[in-house]
Amino acid sequence: MIMLVKTGGEASLPEWRSLFAALLPELDVRWWDDPTVAAEDVAYTFLWAPEPGRLATYPNLRLIISSGAGVDHLTADPHLPAHVPIAKMGAAEAVARMREFALATVFFHHRRFHSFVANQRLKRWEDDETTEAANRTVGVMGLGTLGLPSALALRDASFRVKAWSRSARAIPGIESHAGAAGFDAFLAGTEIVLCLLAATPETAGIVNAATLAKLPRGACVINAARGSHVVIPDLVAALDGGHIAGATLDVFETEPLPADSPVWTHPRILVTPHVASFPNRAARARFVAEAITAFEADRTVLNRFDASRGY
Ligand code: GLV
Repeated sequence: MIMLVKTGGEASLPEWRSLFAALLPELDVRWWDDPTVAAEDVAYTFLWAPEPGRLATYPNLRLIISSGAGVDHLTADPHLPAHVPIAKMGAAEAVARMREFALATVFFHHRRFHSFVANQRLKRWEDDETTEAANRTVGVMGLGTLGLPSALALRDASFRVKAWSRSARAIPGIESHAGAAGFDAFLAGTEIVLCLLAATPETAGIVNAATLAKLPRGACVINAARGSHVVIPDLVAALDGGHIAGATLDVFETEPLPADSPVWTHPRILVTPHVASFPNRAARARFVAEAITAFEADRTVLNRFDASRGY
Protein backbone atom coordinates (compact mmCIF):
# COMPACT_ATOMS: atom_id res chain seq x y z
CA MET A 1 0.00 0.00 0.00
CA ILE A 2 1.85 3.06 -1.25
CA MET A 3 1.27 6.61 -0.12
CA LEU A 4 2.96 9.42 -2.01
CA VAL A 5 3.87 12.44 0.09
CA LYS A 6 4.34 15.98 -1.17
CA THR A 7 4.44 18.34 1.76
CA GLY A 8 7.29 19.80 3.76
CA GLY A 9 9.86 19.36 0.99
CA GLU A 10 11.68 16.18 0.00
CA ALA A 11 14.13 16.57 2.87
CA SER A 12 11.24 15.78 5.22
CA LEU A 13 10.70 12.29 3.75
CA PRO A 14 12.83 10.41 6.32
CA GLU A 15 10.85 12.02 9.12
CA TRP A 16 7.52 11.18 7.49
CA ARG A 17 8.70 7.62 6.94
CA SER A 18 9.68 7.13 10.55
CA LEU A 19 6.46 8.74 11.83
CA PHE A 20 4.32 6.51 9.63
CA ALA A 21 6.42 3.41 10.37
CA ALA A 22 5.35 3.78 13.99
CA LEU A 23 1.70 4.54 13.20
CA LEU A 24 0.88 2.37 10.18
CA PRO A 25 3.73 -0.06 9.47
CA GLU A 26 1.99 -1.52 6.40
CA LEU A 27 2.05 1.86 4.65
CA ASP A 28 4.91 2.30 2.18
CA VAL A 29 5.62 6.03 2.22
CA ARG A 30 7.38 7.49 -0.81
CA TRP A 31 8.18 10.93 -2.08
CA TRP A 32 5.93 12.36 -4.81
CA ASP A 33 8.60 12.21 -7.48
CA ASP A 34 9.98 8.76 -6.66
CA PRO A 35 10.71 7.30 -10.12
CA THR A 36 10.57 3.69 -8.88
CA VAL A 37 6.86 3.86 -7.96
CA ALA A 38 4.43 2.36 -10.48
CA ALA A 39 1.35 4.55 -10.94
CA GLU A 40 -1.05 1.65 -10.36
CA ASP A 41 0.43 0.95 -6.91
CA VAL A 42 -0.44 4.36 -5.50
CA ALA A 43 -3.37 4.07 -3.08
CA TYR A 44 -3.04 7.30 -1.08
CA THR A 45 -1.56 10.74 -1.51
CA PHE A 46 -0.81 13.22 1.26
CA LEU A 47 -0.03 16.58 -0.21
CA TRP A 48 -0.25 20.31 -0.48
CA ALA A 49 -0.11 21.51 -4.11
CA PRO A 50 0.26 18.84 -6.82
CA GLU A 51 1.06 19.87 -10.37
CA PRO A 52 -2.17 19.91 -12.42
CA GLY A 53 -3.01 16.58 -14.01
CA ARG A 54 -0.75 14.43 -11.83
CA LEU A 55 -3.42 13.01 -9.52
CA ALA A 56 -5.42 11.81 -12.52
CA THR A 57 -2.53 9.51 -13.51
CA TYR A 58 -3.05 7.15 -10.54
CA PRO A 59 -5.75 4.65 -11.57
CA ASN A 60 -6.05 3.02 -8.13
CA LEU A 61 -5.95 6.10 -5.98
CA ARG A 62 -8.37 5.62 -3.08
CA LEU A 63 -8.10 8.77 -1.04
CA ILE A 64 -6.41 12.16 -1.34
CA ILE A 65 -5.40 13.66 2.00
CA SER A 66 -4.78 17.39 2.02
CA SER A 67 -1.99 18.58 4.28
CA GLY A 68 -4.01 21.79 4.81
CA ALA A 69 -7.55 22.46 5.99
CA GLY A 70 -8.08 24.49 2.83
CA VAL A 71 -8.03 22.54 -0.42
CA ASP A 72 -7.93 25.34 -3.01
CA HIS A 73 -4.41 24.18 -3.94
CA LEU A 74 -5.98 20.84 -4.97
CA THR A 75 -9.20 22.04 -6.56
CA ALA A 76 -7.18 24.39 -8.77
CA ASP A 77 -6.30 21.23 -10.76
CA PRO A 78 -8.73 21.02 -13.70
CA HIS A 79 -8.04 17.27 -13.96
CA LEU A 80 -8.63 16.46 -10.31
CA PRO A 81 -10.17 12.93 -10.32
CA ALA A 82 -13.70 13.70 -9.13
CA HIS A 83 -14.41 10.13 -7.98
CA VAL A 84 -11.58 10.11 -5.45
CA PRO A 85 -12.64 11.54 -2.07
CA ILE A 86 -10.54 14.19 -0.36
CA ALA A 87 -9.91 14.32 3.38
CA LYS A 88 -9.01 17.83 4.61
CA MET A 89 -6.44 18.18 7.38
CA GLY A 90 -8.37 18.21 10.62
CA ALA A 91 -5.74 17.34 13.19
CA ALA A 92 -6.84 18.42 16.65
CA GLU A 93 -3.52 20.25 16.95
CA ALA A 94 -4.29 22.29 13.81
CA VAL A 95 -7.58 23.35 15.35
CA ALA A 96 -5.89 24.17 18.65
CA ARG A 97 -3.26 26.28 16.93
CA MET A 98 -5.84 28.25 15.00
CA ARG A 99 -7.75 28.84 18.20
CA GLU A 100 -4.57 30.25 19.74
CA PHE A 101 -3.88 32.39 16.70
CA ALA A 102 -7.41 33.78 16.80
CA LEU A 103 -7.09 34.65 20.48
CA ALA A 104 -3.58 36.09 20.11
CA THR A 105 -4.38 38.33 17.16
CA VAL A 106 -7.82 39.41 18.36
CA PHE A 107 -6.32 40.40 21.73
CA PHE A 108 -3.46 42.14 19.88
CA HIS A 109 -5.93 44.38 18.09
CA HIS A 110 -8.39 44.58 20.99
CA ARG A 111 -5.63 46.07 23.17
CA ARG A 112 -4.58 48.36 20.26
CA PHE A 113 -1.08 46.87 20.00
CA HIS A 114 -1.14 47.80 16.31
CA SER A 115 -1.03 51.45 17.47
CA PHE A 116 1.73 50.81 19.98
CA VAL A 117 3.87 49.03 17.39
CA ALA A 118 3.38 51.90 14.91
CA ASN A 119 4.08 54.50 17.60
CA GLN A 120 7.19 52.75 18.87
CA ARG A 121 8.84 53.28 15.49
CA LEU A 122 8.17 57.01 15.96
CA LYS A 123 9.17 57.00 19.67
CA ARG A 124 5.69 58.30 20.33
CA TRP A 125 4.28 57.79 23.84
CA GLU A 126 0.55 57.82 23.30
CA ASP A 127 -2.18 55.85 24.95
CA ASP A 128 -5.10 54.57 22.97
CA GLU A 129 -8.71 54.07 23.86
CA THR A 130 -9.43 50.57 24.99
CA THR A 131 -12.28 48.68 26.53
CA GLU A 132 -12.97 45.31 28.02
CA ALA A 133 -13.39 42.26 25.85
CA ALA A 134 -17.02 42.10 26.91
CA ASN A 135 -17.58 45.42 25.16
CA ARG A 136 -15.70 44.49 22.01
CA THR A 137 -17.49 42.99 19.01
CA VAL A 138 -15.54 40.44 17.02
CA GLY A 139 -16.85 39.03 13.76
CA VAL A 140 -15.73 35.62 12.50
CA MET A 141 -16.17 34.93 8.80
CA GLY A 142 -16.48 31.19 8.22
CA LEU A 143 -17.59 28.54 10.69
CA GLY A 144 -15.71 25.53 9.37
CA THR A 145 -13.18 23.18 10.97
CA LEU A 146 -11.10 26.16 12.08
CA GLY A 147 -13.67 28.97 12.21
CA LEU A 148 -16.15 27.44 14.63
CA PRO A 149 -13.63 26.50 17.36
CA SER A 150 -12.06 29.96 17.02
CA ALA A 151 -15.44 31.68 17.37
CA LEU A 152 -16.20 29.59 20.47
CA ALA A 153 -12.82 30.42 22.02
CA LEU A 154 -13.43 34.15 21.44
CA ARG A 155 -16.88 33.87 22.96
CA ASP A 156 -15.40 32.06 25.95
CA ALA A 157 -12.82 34.85 26.29
CA SER A 158 -15.79 37.22 26.82
CA PHE A 159 -15.87 38.94 23.44
CA ARG A 160 -19.20 39.69 21.81
CA VAL A 161 -19.03 37.35 18.85
CA LYS A 162 -20.86 37.56 15.56
CA ALA A 163 -20.37 34.98 12.84
CA TRP A 164 -21.03 34.95 9.14
CA SER A 165 -21.47 31.66 7.33
CA ARG A 166 -23.19 30.16 4.35
CA SER A 167 -26.26 29.14 6.32
CA ALA A 168 -27.51 30.39 9.68
CA ARG A 169 -26.23 28.54 12.76
CA ALA A 170 -27.74 28.40 16.22
CA ILE A 171 -24.74 28.59 18.55
CA PRO A 172 -25.30 29.81 22.10
CA GLY A 173 -23.68 33.18 22.68
CA ILE A 174 -22.87 33.81 19.02
CA GLU A 175 -24.92 36.10 16.81
CA SER A 176 -25.34 34.29 13.50
CA HIS A 177 -25.59 35.98 10.10
CA ALA A 178 -25.80 34.09 6.85
CA GLY A 179 -25.32 34.48 3.14
CA ALA A 180 -25.21 37.59 1.00
CA ALA A 181 -28.39 38.88 2.62
CA GLY A 182 -26.82 38.83 6.07
CA PHE A 183 -23.43 40.28 5.19
CA ASP A 184 -24.10 43.95 5.89
CA ALA A 185 -25.70 43.23 9.26
CA PHE A 186 -22.67 41.11 10.12
CA LEU A 187 -20.26 43.92 9.25
CA ALA A 188 -22.21 46.65 11.02
CA GLY A 189 -20.63 47.17 14.43
CA THR A 190 -17.93 44.51 13.96
CA GLU A 191 -14.77 46.05 15.40
CA ILE A 192 -12.38 43.18 14.73
CA VAL A 193 -13.07 40.90 11.80
CA LEU A 194 -11.35 37.52 11.55
CA CYS A 195 -11.49 35.83 8.14
CA LEU A 196 -11.47 32.03 8.26
CA LEU A 197 -13.44 31.36 5.10
CA ALA A 198 -12.70 28.67 2.57
CA ALA A 199 -11.32 29.98 -0.72
CA THR A 200 -14.05 29.61 -3.32
CA PRO A 201 -14.99 31.75 -6.33
CA GLU A 202 -17.70 33.41 -4.17
CA THR A 203 -15.28 34.45 -1.43
CA ALA A 204 -12.45 35.76 -3.66
CA GLY A 205 -11.83 39.44 -2.92
CA ILE A 206 -14.57 39.52 -0.29
CA VAL A 207 -12.57 41.86 1.96
CA ASN A 208 -12.59 44.81 -0.42
CA ALA A 209 -13.19 48.57 -0.24
CA ALA A 210 -16.97 48.19 -0.03
CA THR A 211 -16.74 45.61 2.76
CA LEU A 212 -14.20 47.63 4.74
CA ALA A 213 -16.34 50.75 4.45
CA LYS A 214 -19.20 48.93 6.19
CA LEU A 215 -17.06 48.21 9.27
CA PRO A 216 -17.04 50.93 11.93
CA ARG A 217 -14.19 53.46 11.92
CA GLY A 218 -11.17 52.08 13.79
CA ALA A 219 -11.98 48.46 12.98
CA CYS A 220 -9.21 45.88 12.49
CA VAL A 221 -8.89 43.03 10.03
CA ILE A 222 -7.27 39.62 10.52
CA ASN A 223 -6.88 37.20 7.62
CA ALA A 224 -5.83 33.66 8.48
CA ALA A 225 -7.62 31.97 5.57
CA ARG A 226 -6.28 32.62 2.07
CA GLY A 227 -4.60 35.59 0.43
CA SER A 228 -7.31 35.69 -2.24
CA HIS A 229 -9.87 36.89 0.31
CA VAL A 230 -8.32 40.32 0.82
CA VAL A 231 -7.87 43.01 -1.84
CA ILE A 232 -4.56 44.37 -0.56
CA PRO A 233 -4.66 47.80 -2.27
CA ASP A 234 -8.14 48.36 -0.77
CA LEU A 235 -6.94 47.37 2.68
CA VAL A 236 -3.85 49.60 2.45
CA ALA A 237 -6.01 52.53 1.30
CA ALA A 238 -8.41 52.00 4.21
CA LEU A 239 -5.49 51.85 6.66
CA ASP A 240 -3.87 54.96 5.20
CA GLY A 241 -7.18 56.80 5.28
CA GLY A 242 -7.64 55.89 8.94
CA HIS A 243 -10.93 54.03 8.57
CA ILE A 244 -9.21 50.73 9.39
CA ALA A 245 -6.81 50.94 12.34
CA GLY A 246 -4.76 47.78 11.99
CA ALA A 247 -4.47 44.42 10.27
CA THR A 248 -2.84 41.05 10.72
CA LEU A 249 -2.19 39.05 7.58
CA ASP A 250 -1.01 35.45 7.74
CA VAL A 251 -1.73 34.46 4.14
CA PHE A 252 -0.93 36.01 0.78
CA GLU A 253 -1.64 35.46 -2.89
CA THR A 254 2.09 34.87 -3.42
CA GLU A 255 4.00 33.10 -0.67
CA PRO A 256 6.60 33.82 0.52
CA LEU A 257 5.41 37.44 0.43
CA PRO A 258 7.57 39.19 -2.21
CA ALA A 259 10.12 41.67 -0.90
CA ASP A 260 8.55 44.53 -2.85
CA SER A 261 5.10 44.10 -1.29
CA PRO A 262 3.97 47.30 0.47
CA VAL A 263 2.57 45.07 3.18
CA TRP A 264 6.01 44.30 4.62
CA THR A 265 6.69 47.87 5.66
CA HIS A 266 3.21 49.10 6.43
CA PRO A 267 3.33 50.34 10.04
CA ARG A 268 -0.15 49.07 10.84
CA ILE A 269 0.06 45.61 9.30
CA LEU A 270 1.44 42.67 11.21
CA VAL A 271 2.75 40.00 8.83
CA THR A 272 2.95 36.38 9.96
CA PRO A 273 4.34 33.77 7.54
CA HIS A 274 1.34 31.43 7.03
CA VAL A 275 1.70 29.87 10.45
CA ALA A 276 -1.76 30.35 11.95
CA SER A 277 -2.78 26.72 12.26
CA PHE A 278 0.33 24.90 11.17
CA PRO A 279 0.54 21.66 13.16
CA ASN A 280 3.80 19.80 13.52
CA ARG A 281 4.59 16.74 11.43
CA ALA A 282 3.84 14.25 14.19
CA ALA A 283 0.34 15.71 14.61
CA ARG A 284 -0.34 15.67 10.90
CA ALA A 285 0.97 12.11 10.58
CA ARG A 286 -1.43 11.02 13.33
CA PHE A 287 -4.36 12.56 11.47
CA VAL A 288 -3.31 10.91 8.19
CA ALA A 289 -2.94 7.53 9.87
CA GLU A 290 -6.41 7.91 11.40
CA ALA A 291 -7.83 8.94 8.03
CA ILE A 292 -6.37 5.90 6.29
CA THR A 293 -7.44 3.54 9.08
CA ALA A 294 -11.02 4.87 8.95
CA PHE A 295 -11.08 4.66 5.18
CA GLU A 296 -9.75 1.10 5.15
CA ALA A 297 -12.24 0.00 7.80
CA ASP A 298 -15.46 1.16 6.17
CA ARG A 299 -14.68 3.89 3.61
CA THR A 300 -15.36 6.67 6.10
CA VAL A 301 -13.73 9.90 4.91
CA LEU A 302 -12.73 12.12 7.82
CA ASN A 303 -13.34 15.84 7.37
CA ARG A 304 -14.44 15.30 3.81
CA PHE A 305 -14.24 17.92 1.06
CA ASP A 306 -17.66 18.56 -0.47
CA ALA A 307 -17.32 19.47 -4.14
CA SER A 308 -20.85 20.88 -4.29
CA ARG A 309 -19.94 23.53 -1.68
CA GLY A 310 -16.35 23.95 -2.86
CA TYR A 311 -14.83 23.32 0.59
C1 GLV B 1 -3.39 26.10 5.74
O1 GLV B 1 -3.37 27.11 5.15
C2 GLV B 1 -4.45 25.15 5.67
O2 GLV B 1 -5.21 25.14 4.70
O3 GLV B 1 -4.56 24.37 6.61
